[in-house]
Amino acid sequence: MQRVRPERPGDESAIAQVNEAAFGRPDEAQLVAALRAAASPFVSLVAEDADSALTGHILFSPVTVGDEERLSVVALAPMAVIPARQRSGVGTALVQHGLSACRAIGVGAIVVLGHADYYPRFGFAPASRFGLRCPYDAPDEAFMAIELIAGYLEGIEGTVAFHAAFADL
Ligand SMILES: CC(C)(COP(=O)(O)OP(=O)(O)OC[C@H]1O[C@@H](n2cnc3c(N)ncnc32)[C@H](O)[C@@H]1OP(=O)(O)O)[C@@H](O)C(=O)NCCC(=O)NCCS
Repeated sequence: MQRVRPERPGDESAIAQVNEAAFGRPDEAQLVAALRAAASPFVSLVAEDADSALTGHILFSPVTVGDEERLSVVALAPMAVIPARQRSGVGTALVQHGLSACRAIGVGAIVVLGHADYYPRFGFAPASRFGLRCPYDAPDEAFMAIELIAGYLEGIEGTVAFHAAFADL
């Protein structure tokens, strides 16, 4: 059985291990640690087995859009499921709980740079449709967004800036 819950003190090293196992390198685990120290909001959820072993992790951190200062937009990144548990619904549970957690704190929209055939099932669409530009050189369909508040991005246009911690990735 999978349970999704917010990260709590003491989870840090297990979260790092989940990210290292999923990505096969330490970079994303280091990014998570850097965001934990510096980002607000910092929405970090874990999936755990019945025996409390962590199987997955998802993180959301703030972004800015152009020179808009009144928006509450976050980026979904990184997201990781341990290889042995991939393709068994853990990632789906993490995204669904993550959207709810962001909605609960008043986030208006979420962006993600990732697999174009994974995130649309949760309602993500190309961010370009919302007037959002990716700060990185990426295919249009890989940079996606979802409004948690209907119409939140209407009339908005600009390049998204991720948290400074992403510069080290
Ligand atoms: C991507 C990831 C988080 C998905 O988690 P998951 O628990 O395996 O996903 P779920 O079981 O909820 O969903 C499985 C579905 O996702 C799809 N999927 C899984 N990994 C995928 C990938 N790398 N690219 C595209 N689709 C993928 C599967 O095709 C499956 O779709 P189906 O049910 O229609 O066959 C996980 O595979 C992972 O950690 N990968 C390595 C790290 C990574 O790439 N993170 C995301 C960065 S954007």
